[in-house]
This record gives sequence, C-alpha cells and structure tokens, in this order.
Amino acid sequence: MEEKTIKHYSCKHKILLVGEGDFSFSLCLAKAFGSASNMVATSLDSKGELIMNYYSRDLDNLLELEKLGCTILHNVDAHTMNKHPSLGDQLFDRIVFNFPHAGFLYREHDSVQIELHRQVVRGFMKSSREMVSEGGEIHVTHKTSHSFCAWKIEEIAVEVGLCLTKEVPFYKWDYQGYSNKKGSGSNCNDTFPVGQCSTFIFIKHHPSSCLLQEKTENYCLQTQDLVSS
Ligand SMILES: C[S@@+](CC[C@H](N)C(=O)[O-])C[C@H]1O[C@@H](n2cnc3c(N)ncnc32)[C@H](O)[C@@H]1O
Repeated sequence: MEEKTIKHYSCKHKILLVGEGDFSFSLCLAKAFGSASNMVATSLDSKGELIMNYYSRDLDNLLELEKLGCTILHNVDAHTMNKHPSLGDQLFDRIVFNFPHAGFLYREHDSVQIELHRQVVRGFMKSSREMVSEGGEIHVTHKTSHSFCAWKIEEIAVEVGLCLTKEVPFYKWDYQGYSNKKGSGSNCNDTFPVGQCSTFIFIKHHPSSCLLQEKTENYCLQTQDLVSS
C-alpha cells in the first residue's frame, strides 16, 4: 500500500481522535489518506447533541467519514475511554486531542477554570497511556500563550508516566477543511483564533527521549512577563 501522509499522520497508523467538535479534523485526515479504515473518531457529545450544537454541517462530515470507512463513536469521555467497550482492548499509534477544553464556567485565567482544564487533560493522558501502542504517540494541540501555558500540560504528563518528546508549532492551514470549534456553551459552533499554539507530542516515559521540562516552563514565564508588561 502506498503510504499517504499529512503532517504527523500516516494511513499506516492506527489513529484515535478524541474530543472532536464537528469532526472536520478527522475528515481532513481521512481525505488525505483516501480512506479512514485506520481511524476511530470520537466525540464527548451524543449524536443528538452534535446535531443541536453544529447544525447539519457535522452530519455531512460524519456521513463522509462513514463512507471512507471511519469508526465513529459518541459519548466517549477521555477520562474513561480506556474502559469503553469498543475501545478498551485496542492499541493506537496516534491518539489525538485538539484543543482540549472543559467548557466556559469561569474566566480563562481563573485558577479554578485552569484546574478544570487540567483535569480533562489529565484524564485524557491517563487513559491514553493505556491505549498507546509500543512506540506510539499521544498528541495534544494547545495554545501556548498566557493563560493556556499555565495549564502546564507537560507536568501533567510526567505525573501520569508520559513525557514530552517534541513540541511542534501548529498551523491550521496545514489541515484543509479543519474548523476548530469552541465546543461548548451557546457559541459552541463558533470557531476561535488559534493564535500561537503547538502540537505537544508525548510518549510513554523514557528519560532519554524527554525534552527538558525547564524549556517549556521558561517559555511560560516569558509569555507571562510579556502579557503583564
Ligand atoms: C475547544 S473544543 C475543541 C473541539 C475539537 N477538538 C476541535 O478542535 O474543533 C473542546 C472539546 O473538548 C471536548 N471535551 C471536553 N471534555 C471532554 C472529555 N472529558 N472527554 C472528551 N472530550 C471532552 C468537548 O466536547 C469539546 O468538543
């Protein structure tokens, strides 16, 4: 089989997508591969919630994904996905969560809101650790500006036995058709400016492949200085 790739992803990888919004990221990968038989795309939302939140657009995306052979699952919670009856016994080469977010309960810089976001990331990482294949990768695309850098996702990774092996700048234009969504609240279907953001690539803990943690922490401090000056 000819290997078709897009950025970090190959048609030869078994890929799990978590916390999808309107499934446009999954569809972008599937179109690049010409098939989605290597992909499982999931949302926390039920199918009914998706229809309400994203109108008919996501249904078109779901239909196209299905035609390309994608397995689609709803009501998949990142905290418990490793116990999901259709997922629990599978291993994946790439597990991807773009712009994890706990919803808009408090202001973004509020410490309680940040902790809620961190809980989602922690739950995702813990489950993913059980579901990633040998040599596989766990990807989180996340904003790097203040207050998002205060989530300290690389520290959460260490807590759960993962480590950051690469941080790659993320550009939305690399993924044709991808429409990043707010994903909750009354403006759920709105997209948002991604600004400065990266794909953080984690692997199961292996000290020789881990990026120095200080690098990211220094970056966070510098950004905070810029914002407050
Ligand atoms: C900012 S939106 C991003 C949506 C989509 N990944 C994108 O890039 O367009 C955050 C998403 O995280 C999902 N989410 C929040 N908590 C979750 C959880 N515990 N498990 C799975 N998904 C979750 C929400 O349903 C929402 O779709």
